[in-house]
Amino acid sequence: MLVSAKEMLIKAKAGKYAIGHININNLEWAKATLLTAQENNSPVILGVSEGAGKYMGGYKTVVGMVNGLMDELNITVPVALHLDHGTYEGAIECLEKGFSSVMFDGSHYPIEENIEKTKDIIRRAKALGASVEAEVGAIGGEEDGVIGGGEVADPEECQRIAELGVDMLAAGIGNIHGVYPPTWTGLNFEVLAEIQKRTGTMPLVLHGGTGIPDDMIKKAISLGVSKINVNTECQLVFAEATRKYIEEGKDLQGKGYDPRKLLKPGYEAIKEKVKEKMILFGSVNKA
Ligand code: 13P
Repeated sequence: MLVSAKEMLIKAKAGKYAIGHININNLEWAKATLLTAQENNSPVILGVSEGAGKYMGGYKTVVGMVNGLMDELNITVPVALHLDHGTYEGAIECLEKGFSSVMFDGSHYPIEENIEKTKDIIRRAKALGASVEAEVGAIGGEEDGVIGGGEVADPEECQRIAELGVDMLAAGIGNIHGVYPPTWTGLNFEVLAEIQKRTGTMPLVLHGGTGIPDDMIKKAISLGVSKINVNTECQLVFAEATRKYIEEGKDLQGKGYDPRKLLKPGYEAIKEKVKEKMILFGSVNKA
């Protein structure tokens, strides 16, 4: 059964480790991530962007697929199904359709409007036992066609949003989605420390997990980050493994064209990557 992300994140923050939020794109992603979490006895958050939700046939399909997999594959570790960067309407729809957690990304609204809309989403989620992530200060890079520039959040605004009763807070600290450019100057730990000071026990979320060096990840966890979002890195290893299979002509040998064979190297590559992240984040055996 899906659970809210609240409890696993409170435990992670207290225990100084982080839960991986792994974005899923299809059945292979969902199955690979769930089985890897189970094998490593780790809680996990499955992230679904609005674009990925549409791609998979709609939120109801995603909920049905994930619930079905958990049941049939005997997944017993805590799993939250979480809307990633949701619009106000998207968050409401996901709550109604069975997601156990939603992010309402109101970071592009003026702060007062972000607060009003976040409050409404919190009220709806609480009634259903679901958790809520809010965001302050847009996180740069490109996601579903939206481009930003590695912004840094205002710690005072973070405090205001945290006090509304969200379960986790994403705050820009120079992180961006996708691959980091060579000119990237790294995470802003001074701002992260200030945000953590002002938000106390609030689990903080680090978006744009792809390509952040391991030592920075560890430092961010030590400063209160309890959820780390990873998407691009799984896509890259999936594409690389699939390309290798085709370049080696394996799809032309025997029944190598069978999707169950063709997609297997990519599937295995996602499993390897998710395991690597769970070890780095410290969530292994924390289920
Ligand atoms: P990456 O694609 O950079 O890993 O970022 C994922 C993310 O933050 C999803 O919200």
